[in-house]
Amino acid sequence: MTQALFDKRLILVLGKGGVGRSTVAAAIAGQCAARGKRTLLYETNANDRFGNYFDKPPVGPEPVQLADKLWAVNATPASALEEYGLMILRFKSVYEMVFENRVTKAFLRAIPGLDDYALLGKAWFHTTEEKRGKPVWDTVVFDMPASGHSVSMLKVPWVIVDTVPEGPLTRDARTVKALLTDKARTAAVIVTLAEEMPVNEAIELEAKLIGLGIVPQQLVVNQVYPDHVPPGTPLGRVLDSLIVDGGNAALPPVLSAITAHAGLSRDRRALNAHYLAELARRAKTPIVELPMLFAKTLGPAHVRQLGEQLAR
Ligand SMILES: Nc1ncnc2c1ncn2[C@@H]1O[C@H](COP(=O)(O)OP(=O)(O)O)[C@@H](O)[C@H]1O
Ligand SMILES: [Mg+2]
Repeated sequence: MTQALFDKRLILVLGKGGVGRSTVAAAIAGQCAARGKRTLLYETNANDRFGNYFDKPPVGPEPVQLADKLWAVNATPASALEEYGLMILRFKSVYEMVFENRVTKAFLRAIPGLDDYALLGKAWFHTTEEKRGKPVWDTVVFDMPASGHSVSMLKVPWVIVDTVPEGPLTRDARTVKALLTDKARTAAVIVTLAEEMPVNEAIELEAKLIGLGIVPQQLVVNQVYPDHVPPGTPLGRVLDSLIVDGGNAALPPVLSAITAHAGLSRDRRALNAHYLAELARRAKTPIVELPMLFAKTLGPAHVRQLGEQLAR
């Protein structure tokens, strides 16, 4: 992975549900923090995993510290909207008058994409946050919602600029657009698996991001099976001789079980290799692989291991 990634102000982590977006986001954030950057790991409406990944309680809508230089927040649309409202209106009392008003509330609920915009806006807001003239965060790592949802979320500033009359909303939307499309400040990372559906979805996602002017800088292929039985090696030849015509009925039970297991492992690896090659052919973004880790649940040591592997 290019080291420049860890110097960005905003790192967007995207991908299909379940491929390991949150895990990769945590691994990247851990690396940013290890490089001395004040890092905010930002997730939205999530069933939080970050607490576990850093041996802490689940993360809620208030920022909490997870490790040295590393904080996390799990924003909800309501908390993000309140923050954004406060930012524009400056005072809690004015905010309450405007936003807590029943009519306004109903009106806000009716604006499509507003929740998403508030969540995206909060990420942007954190990149601009300052204390005594200094940025509060060097890096915001945004663990985005699943592919389709994250694309519609990223599109909202474009929609606002195109449809809403000139005003504070369009002014901010323009600033958010400028940040998202600035390769010097923002990086998009796509996480995927070396399997058919995730590969197709990753390629689709890549095209959509490029279409928006958000050029992905890294494609992370997660959970790649280890090559336990490399083809052409003595072990491979032993396995070939044990698996005859796809079966191994003649073997003693113990050897039969081991043979089946080794065969399965080799098949999984071959499948991964096939889709890694396909990704390399179809993707425009540089690819980095992360191994499948064999553990019941992943913890801090695993997240660190994955982060170090990414940084290598
Ligand atoms: N490289 C890996 N090896 C083993 N398990 C992994 C790996 N990456 C993620 N996982 C596990 O897969 C599950 C889904 O990962 P998660 O990061 O929550 O996915 P997402 O955020 O994309 O829904 C979690 O249980 C996580 O611990
Ligand atoms: Mg997740």
